[in-house]
Amino acid sequence: MRNILITSALPYANGSIHIGHLVEYIQTDIWARFQNMRGNKCIYVCADDTHGTPIMLRAQKENITPEQVIERYSIEHQKDFADFSVCFDNFYSTNSDENRELANTIYNRLKSAGHITQRVIKQAYDPEEKMFLPDRFIKGECPRCGAADQYGDNCEVCGATYSPTELKNAVSAVSGATPIEKESEHIFCKLQDFEEMLKTWVRSEHLQSEVVNKLDEWLKVGLQDWDISRDAPFFGFEIPDAPGKYFYVWWDAPIGYMASFSNLCDRRDDLDFDAFWGQDSQYELYHFIGKDIVYHHALFWPAMLHGANFRKPTAIFVHGFLTVDGQKMSKSRGTFITARTYLNNLDPEYLRYYYAGKLAGNFQDIDLNLDDFLLRVNSDLVGKVVNIASRCAGFIKKRFDNKLAATCSEPQLYQDFVDAGETIAQHYESRDYGKAMRDIMALADRANQYIDEKKPWVLAKQDGMDQQVHDVCSTGLNLFRVLLTYLKPVLPVMAEKVETFLNIEPLDWKNYQAPLLDHSINKFKPLMTRIEQENIDKMLEQSKQDLAGEKPAEKQAKKSNNDPIAAEIQFDDFAKIDLRIAKIIKAEHVEGADKLLRLTLDIGDETRNVFAGIKSAYKPEDLEGKLTVMVANLAPRKMRFGISEGMVLAAGPGGEDLFILTPDEGAQPGMRVK
Ligand code: 2FM
Ligand code: ZN
Repeated sequence: MRNILITSALPYANGSIHIGHLVEYIQTDIWARFQNMRGNKCIYVCADDTHGTPIMLRAQKENITPEQVIERYSIEHQKDFADFSVCFDNFYSTNSDENRELANTIYNRLKSAGHITQRVIKQAYDPEEKMFLPDRFIKGECPRCGAADQYGDNCEVCGATYSPTELKNAVSAVSGATPIEKESEHIFCKLQDFEEMLKTWVRSEHLQSEVVNKLDEWLKVGLQDWDISRDAPFFGFEIPDAPGKYFYVWWDAPIGYMASFSNLCDRRDDLDFDAFWGQDSQYELYHFIGKDIVYHHALFWPAMLHGANFRKPTAIFVHGFLTVDGQKMSKSRGTFITARTYLNNLDPEYLRYYYAGKLAGNFQDIDLNLDDFLLRVNSDLVGKVVNIASRCAGFIKKRFDNKLAATCSEPQLYQDFVDAGETIAQHYESRDYGKAMRDIMALADRANQYIDEKKPWVLAKQDGMDQQVHDVCSTGLNLFRVLLTYLKPVLPVMAEKVETFLNIEPLDWKNYQAPLLDHSINKFKPLMTRIEQENIDKMLEQSKQDLAGEKPAEKQAKKSNNDPIAAEIQFDDFAKIDLRIAKIIKAEHVEGADKLLRLTLDIGDETRNVFAGIKSAYKPEDLEGKLTVMVANLAPRKMRFGISEGMVLAAGPGGEDLFILTPDEGAQPGMRVK
């Protein structure tokens, strides 16, 4: 028996779980269920990731404490996970005593071993809010191309990266104030100390080759000191020997894996924290994560563990992102679907199956194509798998008093199904669930072919064929039982219904070696219904409304992630802006610019050349002839591609979700907007 601990990335405690997150939780849950069905002991822990500036500001805006925000999301997340059958052995919180203690222990051990250093750095500071500003909370004009409204770390228009101090006309996204530069002492972890260890670790462990390549690249460039402290005000753990300094959220987030396990150990006599986390641990440890957080898990985290004399992960399992219908999830298209909106419309096992079919144990993004989703689930699960049982169960009930035949009429066919189990298990083990699902569906096809050939419904009408009908239908149900064993990690709810129907012990990877003979079963109840297009449509519609229906506080909090909340202005300030109706007479791509379109605008008595960062949302040909609104008295700005003489107004979070403003009919180019 193997002893295994697995984790999924900890969700932030200020947002709802959506179907993108679920790729990971479902993938991990399937693996845990599979391992336990194989007779291994696989523990699955998780927690909410609760610290950091966004959660602190969110609480302030809602006029509640961060703990209240955390509590609310903890309840919501756990309910969502449970309803998707994502079954943790423990779901905890990084804002816990265990986590504080472990965060301190790891810090103290690293410090005594000389891996911690301090120095003064300069950072942007909001003089009104009296707080240092993380890069994402500063906005301004790009120092390279002049594009407005860019974050403090990179420009979405020209792709430049820079430090927040280089932004022009920077403002704090929290207060709208102009940030100043302020010095502060920060605490760093000396990652270079771990470079040699990491090089060996990367080579000796079972990391995916794509991960090894990425790590090699980073290690070649060399590791920098890692800034692990943040100044007050900050919601998190105060650093033990540095009053007013807090651990950066990424310090105590992965430690949350340990804290959740530690909390579980208090309730479970069979688990021993020290035996698990000690250097010579015999247990396996795997982290399931998305490809965006490899750096944290494959460099920072092993370094922290190693420096503090804890064991390191056995491997890290990295997956890609989710697209819906080939594109990033989008609020306007309704494809930004929360777990709850999905659950309100569709059976969670449809999605578990569909994701399983797409996962291949690698970095590739996976696409939820909604047409394919409907067809695949209906054809595979309802049309193939459930169909086997529904075709056989009626005869067994009506004619044989719900009792299966006393002998197996197709021992070879049954044995073939049993023999397929090891290969399917290997696919699960390597997280190539797609292959496992294909093998299982090939078996389902064989079972259906067998029934089609034998035609029990024809036999049933002939005299003296009772035994044959009994044999065929009993074989069908025995094959069905093996199929459900193989599908159980993916479809635990259906498997449980089948256990009741077949009147058997919980299915596992061993107890199907022999068929059920002379065995009484229970009444057959429908196991799964078809997906209807109508339900998908409703889900998309509700997802659009989810955003519209957000409480003002939530909208505001979301906004703060994207946009500065502008300070109040006087009417005179507003009156300074010359807003005009403009007709787009020409729209063109700009060579070398990822995000910009060049617009030629007619504003009545003159034409203007304006560069607008709306390429991600519009095709040039769709814009020509449209009316929109522009700021006509903005000082001309020299950009890399030419001079921009004004600005077109657009709203939305970005990407495809950007909407230019268009006036009602009757508006004419040049009219002043008041
Ligand atoms: O990227 C995220 O969503 C983080 N909350 C993941 C943390 S995983 C672990 F390290 F805590
Ligand atoms: Zn730029």
